[in-house]
Amino acid sequence: MIRPILPYGDVILRKPTVEIQPDFPQLKGLISDMYETMYSASGVGLAAPQIGESIRLFIVDGTGFEEDEPGMKNFKQVFINPVVLQEEGEEWAFNEGCLSIPGVREDVFRKARVLIEYQDEQFAFHEKWFEGMAARIIQHEYDHLEGILFTDKINPMRKKLIRSELEHISRGNHRADYKMKKPLVRR
Ligand code: NI
Repeated sequence: MIRPILPYGDVILRKPTVEIQPDFPQLKGLISDMYETMYSASGVGLAAPQIGESIRLFIVDGTGFEEDEPGMKNFKQVFINPVVLQEEGEEWAFNEGCLSIPGVREDVFRKARVLIEYQDEQFAFHEKWFEGMAARIIQHEYDHLEGILFTDKINPMRKKLIRSELEHISRGNHRADYKMKKPLVRR
């Protein structure tokens, strides 16, 4: 089932998230809904808070980047209860977007490599380094679990330029061609 995506301005996107246990109700269904929702919006990552669930879970599918980066071939997976342990390497800029902020893309600087501990769908633990576009997607989605959006990380001048667009989105006026929720600005 496709779920509506919460837009910039919704308070849930800023709320702290909690860890989940294997008995979390309807987890399988939630994960399959998240994939369906992400694909319906042509995204490469989606964090649970973006569909209104304040839990530590995100999904990625960066397999579409395989042509540019052969290492992306198998980069489709679920991250449960992730913890970023280390980030290193030179910062590089990439023009990021976010399904919660349709129509806005800005350069964001992030470190090149990330070491993350997480559980998979069977709740088995993993600890793994990622780099390049995989690291970038993980860092962006992980930020969602911390209540951080990519627009928090752009330079103040650019932020000023997109302020009115962000206000539009947080009032429920957006140009997304996928299903979005009306924002709850206070809760
Ligand atoms: Ni995002």
